[in-house]
Amino acid sequence: MVEKSGRFIDNAQPLYNLETTITGVTMADKQESIHGQWTGRWGFILAATGSAVGLGNIWKFPYITGENGGGAFVIVYLMCIAVIGIPIMMAEIMLGRRGRQSPINTMTALAIQSGHSQKWHLLGWMGVIAGFLILSYYSVIAGWALAYVERSMTGAFNDSTPEMIKTLFGSFVANPLQLIFWHSLFMFLTIVVVARGVQGGLEKAARYMMPGLFMILLLLVGYAMSAGDFSKGLNFLFAVDFSKITTNSIVIAMGHAFFTLSLGMGAIMVYGSYLPKDASIGKATLIIAVADTVVALLAGMAIFPLVFANQLEPGQGPGLIFQTLPLAFGHMPWGSFFATLFFILLTFAAWTSSISLIEPAVAYLVENRGITRVRASILMGVSCWAMGLLTVFSFNLWSKFTPLSFISIFEGKTIFDLLDYLTANIMLPWGGFFIAVFAAWFMAREASMDELALEYRWLYNIWRFLVRYITPVAVLIIFLKLVS
Ligand code: TRP
Repeated sequence: MVEKSGRFIDNAQPLYNLETTITGVTMADKQESIHGQWTGRWGFILAATGSAVGLGNIWKFPYITGENGGGAFVIVYLMCIAVIGIPIMMAEIMLGRRGRQSPINTMTALAIQSGHSQKWHLLGWMGVIAGFLILSYYSVIAGWALAYVERSMTGAFNDSTPEMIKTLFGSFVANPLQLIFWHSLFMFLTIVVVARGVQGGLEKAARYMMPGLFMILLLLVGYAMSAGDFSKGLNFLFAVDFSKITTNSIVIAMGHAFFTLSLGMGAIMVYGSYLPKDASIGKATLIIAVADTVVALLAGMAIFPLVFANQLEPGQGPGLIFQTLPLAFGHMPWGSFFATLFFILLTFAAWTSSISLIEPAVAYLVENRGITRVRASILMGVSCWAMGLLTVFSFNLWSKFTPLSFISIFEGKTIFDLLDYLTANIMLPWGGFFIAVFAAWFMAREASMDELALEYRWLYNIWRFLVRYITPVAVLIIFLKLVS
């Protein structure tokens, strides 16, 4: 039966069926999620950093920076992390920990609790859909990383020229069967972990893999310093020239801030729901955001010096890291060894991210549909795999198919490009917008203050000011500029 408690304004009938929600509506008072809990603060920080650090940092950040002209884009991205990303991440974790369920049920519960419309659960649904779409292409690209593990082991990059590396990549993505094979393997890995529950082995594995990835990135930066055109690379990344910035690139920079921090779709919310009550949300957020940003900047510092030293094109698109880093590995001592290690770690980083993309959906199926975790994971994973075929074909059979080219900002965009644009640059920022609006305007001040439990009141006031006024308004203005 539903337990009543003083802290909980229990005045509305829950829309969803109580029989099938194992937890009922008392979640705000629950100390633990039915899906389990992290082993303390560090378990959460590792898992959330694992979710944040992924292909977004190492694959996507460099190529979109290359496409959007460098320095000025990087500054806008960093500003978005600070002003939009960090406050929203705190809000998202907070909502998750307060609700203690899948984002859909969390939003229902919190909306009821604060006396507002249950329509807020649509926010959870949008997140589930965004996560599904993102994972469909994420898995294909992660498959590239897996394929490159194999190529590294066989020494495919040794003493290669930029042309050879380019041909290697070109013929790889031209072959749909190859892409499907690696995409399937990666999706299988994702399903296995989600089926076992994300708190299991993953937390432990992240403990070793993340520092490993960090070290190998440092090594690559060192290599870029000695063999690349380091000053030109740094100049490209950090010299700010605002004339290169368009409204569209601001939208992309903002979208990437959401993407790289895993915000706006409930991934961090669901991770927050497994967070023990006594952990500090503010500190955890800061650690995650800093680690994520450092990894992205290191990746940029490793890649662009090589791009310029080899007369490559910085704006060549999604193949960028696969056509630059192999050059470095092909020429350094122990190159095959480091290349293998790098692509294994990259796959792993993608793996710890991909699981967070379907965890909200799986948690929902377990809570509301009474499906076992294993079945829910397989169901979601297999459907997402099928959706991924659209991305596979975007690089070969359908590479000339650009369905929305009549709209200027979508000109020349393949289905993959469109999926990426729709999710990262539109769905995530709007998800984040509503998360901020809910946390700041709809949730009781006492509730957010209690849940965030920041050490100083002024810190709480800054946070509240940001999520009330700055963050949503920034998202709004950027979009208004785009459509005007
Ligand atoms: N942040 C991850 C990366 O940078 C990708 C990711 C995982 C993600 N979970 C997410 C993006 C949720 C958006 C929303 O690779």
